[in-house]
Amino acid sequence: MVKKLNCLVSAGPTREWIDPVRFISNPSSGKMGYALAKEAMRRGYEVNLVSGPVNLKAIDGLFITQVETAEEMRHAMLEKFEQADLILMCAAVSDHRPVVRSKHKTKKTEFPQSIEMIANEDILAELGSKKEKFQTLVGFAAETENGEENAKKKLKKKNLDWIALNEISKKMIGFNSDFNEITLFSSHGKTIKLGFLNKEKLANRMFEVILE
Ligand code: CTP
Repeated sequence: MVKKLNCLVSAGPTREWIDPVRFISNPSSGKMGYALAKEAMRRGYEVNLVSGPVNLKAIDGLFITQVETAEEMRHAMLEKFEQADLILMCAAVSDHRPVVRSKHKTKKTEFPQSIEMIANEDILAELGSKKEKFQTLVGFAAETENGEENAKKKLKKKNLDWIALNEISKKMIGFNSDFNEITLFSSHGKTIKLGFLNKEKLANRMFEVILE
């Protein structure tokens, strides 16, 4: 029997807890990551999906590793990374977490004026530093300004093969929308605009381009 290729996908936001009732997060819905995981399954990959908290239906036949914090996502990704031929880092990882995670709910009268934060590990950069020749590593860049320039910087800095630029300031696209507009940049200098499409069609086009 031919061994199936393995695809590792991350999706959704992470939550960085302040206390048991409050967290710092972002509006990522997970829709793009789930669409990519489904497309990978449709194409015959063995798929591992690592997902932050989302309100999406489970995917038939797919075991999803559920995580909450960036640190949990990092562990799950590192555990599954070595066996992955294709890695699609679509999650919107929180860059920072509160230094202190209080065990008890902070009373409003005691809530601090400011919260001290510490940087989370950059998961994608860590995967990029461990990447082997057989692996294809794809990241996303969520940008509100200087999209192309910033995306290309991330492509290089994180040692990626492709980066998908997502201009989140445009109306109707990106976070929580069913649609998105993506431009792909490769480490070999290719630029491919995928246009304004629903996330299922975009996932399909992304695979076409990346696997070409
Ligand atoms: N990413 C990651 N770990 C982090 C932050 C980001 O793995 N701690 C990944 C995201 O999943 C995405 C890529 O890095 O694939 C780019 O994320 P983005 O939020 O666009 O950029 P940052 O690297 O966080 O940089 P900045 O916030 O300065 O734009």
